[in-house]
Amino acid sequence: MFGQIAHRYDVMNRLMTAGQDTRWRKLLVDKANLRPGGRLLDIATGTGDIAFEALHRHPNLRQVVGADFTLPMMHVGRHRAAANGQATRLSWSGADTLHLPFPDNTFDAVASGFLMRNVVSVPQALADQTRVLKPGGRLLILEIPRPEDTLWGAMFRLYFHNVVPLLGGIISGQHDAYSYLPASADAFLRPEELKFQMEQAGLRNVSYQMLMLNTVALHWGTK
Ligand SMILES: C[S@@+](CC[C@H](N)C(=O)[O-])C[C@H]1O[C@@H](n2cnc3c(N)ncnc32)[C@H](O)[C@@H]1O
Repeated sequence: MFGQIAHRYDVMNRLMTAGQDTRWRKLLVDKANLRPGGRLLDIATGTGDIAFEALHRHPNLRQVVGADFTLPMMHVGRHRAAANGQATRLSWSGADTLHLPFPDNTFDAVASGFLMRNVVSVPQALADQTRVLKPGGRLLILEIPRPEDTLWGAMFRLYFHNVVPLLGGIISGQHDAYSYLPASADAFLRPEELKFQMEQAGLRNVSYQMLMLNTVALHWGTK
């Protein structure tokens, strides 16, 4: 599914969020506490937006890996990077977040954007992401939680279930992929539940910030 929308993925993100998604990724990079010489894994990197933002903000990082199991998404990112002269700075890796191909205690930060709704097991994904994180390192999750049961939540659902698939169908030709998006958010955890799961995975000082009128959440915690 992600392979089919790869060519229109970035433009749809900008449209659906009125350009706010780039701001959320900047905030995520702020919360990552990266230092010169540090290593970052952007898991489910897609077209590499989080990884590129980190490289832009922290040019002295030792290693930034963008990993995903949908190669066409990374191909789009790689071509864009080549066009912007950024091609050599990011290491791309084919990887499944449930079985990461990295040794224990490798990264100073492990970040994901809009991944966790998609995984078959949140505890398993958290366990493996935590495994590759160094002690003291940060895990960060940007995601669309299950909408709240309020009037605002109902209005957001209306937009999400009707406007987004229509727009996605027109822009990418893949109506189904953009119907899956709101359905997967409905089936996902609430922010407090995700915080609990992160604590269960052994992370400490877990916290989160709600964005875009409580429709998007940024969680972080320390190993
Ligand atoms: C909505 S895109 C997010 C891309 C990017 N992180 C962003 O912020 O725009 C979700 C990505 O998660 C990837 N993905 C889903 N399940 C995965 C898994 N188990 N392991 C690795 N990547 C996965 C998909 O291939 C897709 O590229």
